[in-house]
Amino acid sequence: MSEPQGSSIPRHVAIIMDGNGRWAKSHGLPRTAGHRKGMETVREIVRAASDIGVGYLTLFAFSSENWRRPETEVTDLLGLLKLFIRRDLAELHRDNVRIRVIGDRRNLRGDILPLLLEAEETTRDNTGLTLVIAFNYGARDELVRAVTSLAGEVAAGRLKPDEITSELIDSRLDTVGIPDPDLIIRTSGEERLSNFLLWQAAYSELMFVPDYWPDFDKALFCAALDRFAARERRFGGLSAQAAVGS
Ligand code: FPP
Repeated sequence: MSEPQGSSIPRHVAIIMDGNGRWAKSHGLPRTAGHRKGMETVREIVRAASDIGVGYLTLFAFSSENWRRPETEVTDLLGLLKLFIRRDLAELHRDNVRIRVIGDRRNLRGDILPLLLEAEETTRDNTGLTLVIAFNYGARDELVRAVTSLAGEVAAGRLKPDEITSELIDSRLDTVGIPDPDLIIRTSGEERLSNFLLWQAAYSELMFVPDYWPDFDKALFCAALDRFAARERRFGGLSAQAAVGS
């Protein structure tokens, strides 16, 4: 397995980790086992991204819609996230990983919020990989909160409607300061964004891989980065070839 190098490495990779349940089913195991194995994949991919030199890795850990799952599964998912932070925070910190959390923090109950805040606070000055954990995250919800904040300023007379720019909207999103994802990977063969980073994905390359998340590993991650390196990104302009021919 060769690791991608140099300028072809995407600065920001975001991943929709899908297929834990189907992986479990295909092995005759309960869904919990799929999530547990999925957490091991999280550890492997975070380490890989850090080693390869990816700047930002965003993982869709828990969506604002995931609360609709049975209570036992919600408890299980929250338990795994808490376990990940408790068990891995010291090592991530040692590896110079900075943790950021995106998603709605209001109305979170129990010890999850203090743990997420501790992870952010402990690692805030680290300069290596930024691991962005999307927790209680939904892109439409994020946009509603951003628009509400701007509308409040307009109503208060501090902002004029025609002063609202794309950059100002960026500055009100949970992802403020984080570059837009260059590459969004979704595992398990599903091909949709499911309310993930809708604003930020405007020019992202999308990659859908057939493997279930628990089967995704460093080799498959590197293969995805290789495929990304071969793509030509135009950001609304012309390809180099078309520009020469014009
Ligand atoms: C999708 O599989 C996955 C999730 C809803 C959650 C992802 C969570 C983890 C990998 C565990 C812990 C996370 C961290 C960051 C430590 P699914 O259950 O929707 O699978 P299915 O579509 O096959 O049913």
